[in-house]
Amino acid sequence: MGHDDDPYADAVIYDLEHEGMAVDLNFYADKARRAHGKVLELGCGTGRLTRHLARQGVAVHGIDRAPDMLRRHRELLAAEVPEVAGRVTIEEADYRSWSATGPFGAVLWPFNALHHCSGDDEVLGVLEAARRWIRPDGFLALDCYLPDRSLYDREPQGRCEYRDFQDPRTGETLTSWEQGWWDEPTRTHHVVYTYRFLDGREFRSHLRLRMFEHAELLALLSAAGWRLTRESSDFNGRPMDRSALKWVAVLTPA
Ligand SMILES: C[S@@+](CC[C@H](N)C(=O)[O-])C[C@H]1O[C@@H](n2cnc3c(N)ncnc32)[C@H](O)[C@@H]1O
Repeated sequence: MGHDDDPYADAVIYDLEHEGMAVDLNFYADKARRAHGKVLELGCGTGRLTRHLARQGVAVHGIDRAPDMLRRHRELLAAEVPEVAGRVTIEEADYRSWSATGPFGAVLWPFNALHHCSGDDEVLGVLEAARRWIRPDGFLALDCYLPDRSLYDREPQGRCEYRDFQDPRTGETLTSWEQGWWDEPTRTHHVVYTYRFLDGREFRSHLRLRMFEHAELLALLSAAGWRLTRESSDFNGRPMDRSALKWVAVLTPA
């Protein structure tokens, strides 16, 4: 069972929370199939996307710094047919300081993992490293949120998004809810999920999401030697506009 605070300490709970999340799968599979060579997934987690790509014939190397996420990733991979499992390699590493084993046909930085960077320097560092990790004809595909003021104005103590779960390990019922607030000095959106068992025991998972403006992201990718090849505000190609709350981008070497 996970310990307080770290959102990636209990991979089973993480997967329950994200069950059914599939909106991005076709986008990344479509891109990854075009890569020339193995694809690198930054923050591969429990392998939700990794396994989807491998089932589509894509060879993937996934890196992640959270041991429990990788433990579950390995467990789920072992349940795949050997041909699919054989396309995946995973490694425990922090991609902000990783020494690559590439070059890779593409780098994917999916599912808002960019928000775990604490500021411009860290995003720039990852973008520069990714530029070195790919083949000359490679690309980087990523998605992240854009700041959503309507969320940040919420009452911090207000509880929302109530859900009931069953922990598959114990059969116990859990109720969860979400609370969030905005910290202007660090430009961080804090989201705390509280999980409560029927007997009153509770644990929490605290996501700290550093938010970036669209213009800042464009400046960072350019400074890191990338060119924006395609961008949209959702995974179906909806054009970017001032109301966009999501950024889905494909970058190629400048
Ligand atoms: C939102 S999850 C996405 C998991 C998976 N890519 C997916 O699409 O389902 C983000 C993952 O990024 C990992 N992560 C965050 N910062 C990282 C870092 N600096 N180095 C390696 N992994 C990181 C977390 O441990 C977590 O598993």
